[in-house]
Amino acid sequence: ALPEGVTIYEVGARDGLQNESALVPLETKLDFVQRLTAAGLPIVEATSFVHPKWVPQLADAADLVARLDLDGVVPYPVLVPNERGLDRALEAGVTHVAIFASATETFATKNLNSTYETQFAMFEPVVRRALDAGVAVRAYLSMCFGDPWEGEVAIDRVVTAGKRLLDLGAYELSIGDTIGVGTAHHVEAMLDAFAAAGVGTDRLAMHFHDTYGQALANAYAALRRGVTTFDASAGGLGGCPYAKSATGNLATEDLVWMLDGLGVAHGVDLPALVQTSTWMAEQLGRPSPSAVVRALAAG
Ligand code: HMG
Ligand code: MG
Repeated sequence: ALPEGVTIYEVGARDGLQNESALVPLETKLDFVQRLTAAGLPIVEATSFVHPKWVPQLADAADLVARLDLDGVVPYPVLVPNERGLDRALEAGVTHVAIFASATETFATKNLNSTYETQFAMFEPVVRRALDAGVAVRAYLSMCFGDPWEGEVAIDRVVTAGKRLLDLGAYELSIGDTIGVGTAHHVEAMLDAFAAAGVGTDRLAMHFHDTYGQALANAYAALRRGVTTFDASAGGLGGCPYAKSATGNLATEDLVWMLDGLGVAHGVDLPALVQTSTWMAEQLGRPSPSAVVRALAAG
C-alpha cells in the first residue's frame, strides 16, 4: 500500500535559483518564496549561507531571510556548509538549517573545497551548535546514484555516509541523485540497504534531479517503499553549479499530478503552483521544463 500522505520539501528558491547566472532581484525571490508558501507547500527552502563568491546568486541570503515570516507555520530552511555559514544563519534568526555532504571524494572537493573525510569534521560543530540553539538540522547527501567524475557509487558507501550524517544529529537525510542517473531498481536497492542498516523511511527523503527523465519513476519507486518526504522544485527549476550535468530537480507540479492520480495527500494547490512557476519562468526568460506546467499553463 502507498502512504496516505507525503510532505513535499520545496527547493526551487534554493536549488532552482542557485544555478541561474542572471542575478534574480531580491523582490522577485521574495515573491517566489511567498507564492510557494501561499500555494500550500509545507516547507520552503529559501536560500544558502554559502560563500558569496562560490554562489553569487544567493549572496543576498541575509536580506532575503530578514523579509520572511520566521514565526509562521511554514519553515524556511537554509543551507549552511560550515560554522561561518551557521553564524550568518543564526544571526538572521533562522529556525531550520541543512548541511550538505558528498558521498564521493571528488565532489567533496569541488562543492565544499574539502575531502570526503574532513567534511564530517566541518559539519560536526555546525550540527552541535545548531541543535544547542534550538535549530532543526537536515542533512543532504549528494552523488548517491552516480558521480560525473567517479562513475558508479556503491550503495554501501552511501549508507555509511548517510548514517554518519544522521548520527551527527540531523533529523532527516535527503538522498540526492545530483546528476539524475538513478533508475527505479537502484532506488529500491538503496532504500532496502538503508532499512537493513536500521534507517527507516521515517528519517529519509528523496532528492531527484530529472536529468535523464527518471525523477518521477524514481519517486514512485520510493513511494512504494514507504518514503513520505520528497524534495521537488517548482517548475523543475534548478541544478547544482558545481556538478556538471546536473539539471533541474523533479518538478513539484509533476510530482503533485502523480500524487493526485494515486490518491496520496500533499496539501498543494496545483493551479496556484502552476501560476507561480509560469510567472517565474517569465522572470527568468525561458519556459518551464515541467510537462505538467506546460500542459496546464497552455490549457
Ligand atoms: P573555502 O574557500 O574553502 O572557505 O570555501 P574557507 O573556510 O577557506 O574560508 C575562506 C574565506 O571564505 C574566509 O574569509 C571565510 O570567512 C569565508 P576570509 O577570512 O578569507 O575573509 N567563508 C564564508 N563566507 C560566507 N559564508 C560562508 C563562508 N565560509 C567561509 N559560509 C565553502 C568552503 C564550503 C565555504 C565553499 O566551498 C562553499 O561555499 N561551497 C558551497 C557550494 C554550494 O553552495 N553548492 C551548491 C549547494 S549543494 C547542492 O546543490 C546539492 C543538493 O541540492 C543535493 C543534491 O542535489 O545532491 C543539496
Ligand atoms: Mg540538488
